[in-house]
Amino acid sequence: MPAIAPDRTIGIVGAGAMGAGIAQVAALAGHRVRLFDQRDGAVDSAIAAMAKTFDGLVAKGKLAADKAEATLGRIEPAENLADFDVCALAIEAIVEDVGAKRNLFADLEAIVAPDCILASNTSSLSISALARDLEYPGRVAGFHFFNPAPLMKLVEIVSGLGTDEATAATLCDTARAWGKTPVRAISTPGFVVNRCARPFYGEALRLLGERAVDAATLDAVMCEAGGFKMGPCALMDLIGHDINFAVTNAVYAATFNDPRYLPAHLQSEMVAAGHFGRKSGRGFFAYGAGAEKPPVSSEPEAPKPAQVTREGDDERLEPLLARAKEAGLFVHRRLATEAGPRLLVDGTVLHLSDGRSATRRARDTGENELALFDLALDYTTATRIAISVADQATGQAAASAAGFFQAMGIAVSLIDDAPGLVVLRTVAMLVNEALDMAQHGVASPEDIDLAMTLGVNYPKGPFAWGSEIGLDLVKTVLDNLKRHYGEDRYRASPRLNRLVARETAP
Ligand code: NAI
Repeated sequence: MPAIAPDRTIGIVGAGAMGAGIAQVAALAGHRVRLFDQRDGAVDSAIAAMAKTFDGLVAKGKLAADKAEATLGRIEPAENLADFDVCALAIEAIVEDVGAKRNLFADLEAIVAPDCILASNTSSLSISALARDLEYPGRVAGFHFFNPAPLMKLVEIVSGLGTDEATAATLCDTARAWGKTPVRAISTPGFVVNRCARPFYGEALRLLGERAVDAATLDAVMCEAGGFKMGPCALMDLIGHDINFAVTNAVYAATFNDPRYLPAHLQSEMVAAGHFGRKSGRGFFAYGAGAEKPPVSSEPEAPKPAQVTREGDDERLEPLLARAKEAGLFVHRRLATEAGPRLLVDGTVLHLSDGRSATRRARDTGENELALFDLALDYTTATRIAISVADQATGQAAASAAGFFQAMGIAVSLIDDAPGLVVLRTVAMLVNEALDMAQHGVASPEDIDLAMTLGVNYPKGPFAWGSEIGLDLVKTVLDNLKRHYGEDRYRASPRLNRLVARETAP
């Protein structure tokens, strides 16, 4: 399907943050835009704000003055919806309410031509529900931009049960023509990004609720080891806890209380207290004049280990061992014992976590002097790592593990003995969520990876990450988390079980 031609008019209802941003995108792409808002003055202030933004861009040399003027000239305030009669596409970005959006679409259907597409920028409502009462439900689709729309590349094109393929395909090509990257999804709770990202927040809230780690340290581990641009606590503070909590609740309710999306009591308290994050001056962190970020907890400088031995081979650890050698640590080699591949640092056994707590693992294996370390996006460049220590250990384990990583210039955060530590459990849950979404046809694996890297800036898409660390590890971590918590929240997706069974078939 070709994109909507630039000489066709686009109608936008709602001149708030999203509607104004989308109007700017469409006008920059050459369309005439008719912008309507029921609130007096809303359209004029949106256009005035856009003019100010353009002035800034022109001053910085990022936008030609004549292009800015022509773009603004293409945005026309609409007196009422009747002005939308010429539109090839009408996009609604009004209040997030099914009734209001249904009424609006019904009003629009009486005005526009039968082939005009009616698109919704909703981030949480069912597209099938929005189209229900229309004469031509096939023309309705989700056209979900991210905030701020002019800057964010990703657009989710969402098909409801009645959406015509031609409608979704036209929106896809139109998004491309507007310089965006579209991904296709079917109408399910949270679509792609807001669903797949739930564990990023959910696991952080769990760890904080269990007092396994503090917010500043958790964020530092997720960024410096996990490679995320922003930690979950800082990101929830930025999004606003009221919004983030509402999205989690919406997904939880829409999935009939699937425990995977169980909202956190900790966040509910923060919302109740008005600790919304940046916008209220206080969330996990304080904001505003004089606000200081709490310190990240790091282990004190420990002595360089006298002896490091690797038993057996675990290819996941090769980059770490290469870095150890580069840092001047001599790594002895021994054949694997019954305990499987592992590292011995002086008297301490060091393992990458497999989703068991260190205490449980020490009990299972008899390796009492045991420390576990977390997953890193790239062990050759990580600047921090989380470790945990078994309750059975005598006290030397933390220092030995810390000395090992510190000798390579990696800061060490000792957290309480939470299974799967921080990055590993989050990544395992993200991969599981993505596999489940693919199984249910929410979106293709390629689109899910694209959405998570472009829409929320993850360092790797969940499919790419899962194949890099191995789906067998992902499944082991989830099975162990499920055993530890006794909760269905950590159940492995049937798709994950199947892929691992196939990989490990004799
Ligand atoms: P907003 O509150 O900034 O703007 C909404 C505008 O719509 C207001 O100016 C309001 O006067 C107007 N409006 C409300 N009902 C109307 C009606 N029946 N007819 C005409 N105008 C009406 O909201 P925002 O943030 O721009 O969100 C709009 C939509 O986009 C919502 O569906 C929201 O869920 C979705 N969305 C929001 C994102 C965000 O980060 N803010 C991101 C992606 C989607």
